[in-house]
Amino acid sequence: MRRQLSLDVLVGADERRRALCDDVRAGLGGPEKHIPPAWFYDDAGSRLFDEITRLPEYYPTRAERSILASRAADIAIATRADTLVEIGSGTSDKTRILLDAMAAARHLERIVLFDISHEVLADAAETLGRRYDVDVHAVVGDFRHHLGSIPAGGRQLWAFLGGTIGNLLPTARRRFLDRVRQQMGRDAHLLLGTDLVKDVGRLIAAYDDSAGVTAAFNRNVLAVVNRELHAGFDPDAFGHRVRWDPDERWIEMRLRATRAHTVVVADLDLAVDFRAGEEILTEISAKFTPSQVADELAAAGLAPRAAWRDDAGDFQLTLARPGN
Ligand code: SAH
Ligand code: TRP
Repeated sequence: MRRQLSLDVLVGADERRRALCDDVRAGLGGPEKHIPPAWFYDDAGSRLFDEITRLPEYYPTRAERSILASRAADIAIATRADTLVEIGSGTSDKTRILLDAMAAARHLERIVLFDISHEVLADAAETLGRRYDVDVHAVVGDFRHHLGSIPAGGRQLWAFLGGTIGNLLPTARRRFLDRVRQQMGRDAHLLLGTDLVKDVGRLIAAYDDSAGVTAAFNRNVLAVVNRELHAGFDPDAFGHRVRWDPDERWIEMRLRATRAHTVVVADLDLAVDFRAGEEILTEISAKFTPSQVADELAAAGLAPRAAWRDDAGDFQLTLARPGN
């Protein structure tokens, strides 16, 4: 049979621009400046993120990979899934461990990849299409809004890896899990990767590496706004700031103006004033306890079936399915 490779664009150039305009106007027009993290991932940003995953300080990727390596076969057999749906798939690099196991169990029929980053997604779809003899369906979309467009069919295993769920605020997280449960079907499973609460020094280092790659990634969002909205940000006028919020239990990444200045965003007719030391919140990365993961899944009508951690107890993969 001839295998198909398809790419749906739910967020095309116009839609992307409209959404960026809305987010920048809302985020920089008020007193508490913020830019949502989806805008980090243009081509350059996605490459920088890939570099982050290989940094000595950034343990989550290695930890998650080690859990996948030891549990993928169990997951393939327990779920009997024939369709892998990956949300925020990026390069889908670690995902191959799972796909290899599904192929070895002779179940794998189809791969659905969903990401906001068009180029990275298209590359990943092509790479996986070559490696596995199955249909690959790529969807360019925003997982905060477009999960309803994920095609039904087959016995699905949804994967949301990398701790990306921690980049959503609690209310958005709750909404996201609700939508996943509604969309995935009664006989589907969710495999969720969550980073766990740990020593604060290690957490901070993971987002403030000594080579400055994460700092470059953080500043890249300004380059995105410059290019797409003809803004005049000088990335060197902003420092990379990382702090741990012990009450919220999340890492905050911010860009801090080193001096008072005004930035014009030409396409929005907007002048944004910065005081010296004023910050833009660019990302949160929530860290979880195992019981919190179980509670949040249960609140969305998802029953945890199994939870696995790496040897150091840094990261957790949870397998859940609809039910209580
Ligand atoms: N799953 C990979 C990549 C994690 S990085 C891993 O575990 O290493 C987060 C990924 O989510 C990026 O590929 C980014 O493009 C994507 N992403 C971020 N915000 C998104 C959004 N709102 N909608 C869809 N994809 C998003
Ligand atoms: N999901 C990843 C995380 O929270 C994304 C990430 C890693 C990230 N490092 C970052 C996002 C730096 C923004 C900036 O760990």
